Amino acid sequence: MIEGTTQAALEWRDGLPYSTAFGDVYFSSDNGLLETEYVFIQGNALISRWQLLTGNKFTILETGFGTGLNFLCACKYWLEHAPVNTVLHYTSVEKYPLSLTDMHKALQHWPALKPVADELLAQYTTLLNTGTATLFNDRIRLQVIFGDATECLSKLDTKADAWFLDGFAPSKNPEMWQQALFEQMARLSHLETTFATFTSAGMVRRGLAAAGFKVNKQPGFGKKREMISGYFIGNNDGS
Ligand SMILES: C[S@@+](CC[C@H](N)C(=O)[O-])C[C@H]1O[C@@H](n2cnc3c(N)ncnc32)[C@H](O)[C@@H]1O
Repeated sequence: MIEGTTQAALEWRDGLPYSTAFGDVYFSSDNGLLETEYVFIQGNALISRWQLLTGNKFTILETGFGTGLNFLCACKYWLEHAPVNTVLHYTSVEKYPLSLTDMHKALQHWPALKPVADELLAQYTTLLNTGTATLFNDRIRLQVIFGDATECLSKLDTKADAWFLDGFAPSKNPEMWQQALFEQMARLSHLETTFATFTSAGMVRRGLAAAGFKVNKQPGFGKKREMISGYFIGNNDGS
């Protein structure tokens, strides 16, 4: 693992990974896979955007790589729907990466993702050591930057086409959900950049709007009342 990185502290509750540091679950017991598809894939309208993709690449930026569930869902749909000569650039920031053993155990939950998960697991040690992995004959380039989300994003200069704004509930992880994070997201967005997140917490809605995002509430997944998604409309200074 890259020097200075702290491994995730988690335990298994009813077979599901649970963060003891944050007091929150990595994914919903109420079908985390469908929730990821609903919140992040549909929330960013990725399938139709990928079917109509005109350039040769698409960039997703994510906060909180975790078990890689969001990443693997994106891989599956990218390989199914994006034109064959295109590359998905997926960059995630992660403060507390899971061990290889925990990744194996967590990803066993999703037999539908096994073909993509196997390729990630085969390269996971390299990913922990170097922060990068190239998968599926170079159709997908994964970068995970280990450290605090806002700090890591502040060093990036790659613009996102879509944001997966993840990272435990704001009430459990107030240190990450800060205005400075939304400002970094704005800096790394362009006028067609979308975002989606499972939360509809007021500070997230207001913070994203203040940073220059159009924020739309929509029904949440399963028993959750609301989530939010939207797109970048530019900063007040006109940029
Ligand atoms: C709910 S899990 C993410 C689930 C993940 N997207 C997946 O597909 O499995 C939240 C992740 O955010 C990470 N995280 C929490 N605070 C962070 C921070 N300040 N900076 C970067 N990552 C953070 C946690 O370590 C955890 O892996």
